[in-house]
Amino acid sequence: MSYKIAIVGSGSWGSALAQILSDNKHEVLMYDIDDKIVTEINKDHTNKSKLGSSKLNEDIKATKDLTKAIDYGEIILLAVPTAVVRLVLSEINKVIKEPKLFVNVAKGIEPETFKRVSEIVYEEIAEAMIKGYVVLTGPSHAEEVVIGMLTLVTAASNNLDDAKLVQKIFSNKTYFRVYTSTDLIGAELCGSLKNVIALASGMAYGLKFGDNTLAALITRGLLEIKRIVLVLGGKIETVYGLSGMGDLIVTCTSHHSRNFQAGIKIAQGKNLKQTLSEMTMVVEGARTAVAAHQIIKEYKISAPIMEGVYDIVYKQKDVKKAISKLMSRSLKPE
Ligand SMILES: NC(=O)c1ccc[n+]([C@@H]2O[C@H](COP(=O)([O-])OP(=O)(O)OC[C@H]3O[C@@H](n4cnc5c(N)ncnc54)[C@H](O)[C@@H]3O)[C@@H](O)[C@H]2O)c1
Repeated sequence: MSYKIAIVGSGSWGSALAQILSDNKHEVLMYDIDDKIVTEINKDHTNKSKLGSSKLNEDIKATKDLTKAIDYGEIILLAVPTAVVRLVLSEINKVIKEPKLFVNVAKGIEPETFKRVSEIVYEEIAEAMIKGYVVLTGPSHAEEVVIGMLTLVTAASNNLDDAKLVQKIFSNKTYFRVYTSTDLIGAELCGSLKNVIALASGMAYGLKFGDNTLAALITRGLLEIKRIVLVLGGKIETVYGLSGMGDLIVTCTSHHSRNFQAGIKIAQGKNLKQTLSEMTMVVEGARTAVAAHQIIKEYKISAPIMEGVYDIVYKQKDVKKAISKLMSRSLKPE
């Protein structure tokens, strides 16, 4: 069965997901506020600033008209940076006329409120207009997906039937396979928090640390993610699954990762403003580092790597001094 899907946000991930959906014979209408991107997708079937020369299927269309996109989609796929999710949802709420299934792929936690995107959806969209909510998350760089490299992710929802529907729509037999989960909290938290550890990993790479350091960061970073997930109600299996360990590994080791790249720039002495101004795509870890710092304080969780990242990024602490502080902590059992 073919579905009509509106993709809100035509950046690198929105475009790669459009390609999967089109390959799977669904009908796609993309939406973005950026005129240039919309025109380029319609005219040249590319999104060069986000995905280089990769070609998108010709049946993928884009629009700048939000009402048209929302009317079109039976399913609304959210692919905008989390910093604008609340704003975009409030705009959607003004134009949505019938209940739709919301699928989100943005990864982040809102500072101050500690809200996950699912919670923001239920705050901003009238309840009668929400058929359900699913997060699609896991180790998946757009640059690889768009050229058909084999990728596995998780569709998590409080409603297993909704997760199964998303699994069916996105999976194919060649390069994209989706697993289901009912641990929405765990999947959303893991996908967001791994970006903070990726910043640390980029910093270590920028300072020319080796593979031992990277392995240590991933292992101890996963432990910090686990502590937060368990305190906030997520499940341990999720931490060790695709949306947890899987996504952490890819984001800490891949040069496609924007958070990893941003970490390298910070290690080279650039401040956050300079770093973000040099990135062409969103660096979610910078914002989630604030939320993580607040959560760690509020719930008294031990997460020294995430705290180190916060100090470096927001308190201008020297990276080497932050590492020295980490290494000088009291010795403890694993
Ligand atoms: N790129 C990936 O490989 C990847 C993979 C998995 C998850 N994600 C997540 O997906 C989300 C989007 O990432 P991305 O890489 O596609 O980012 P991106 O920077 O490439 O694209 C974001 C898009 O959102 C659009 N946008 C910004 N504000 C908007 C608004 N108010 N209304 C409509 N459109 C708006 C921008 O014009 C841009 O086209 C992030 O949370 C990211 O963590 C990305």
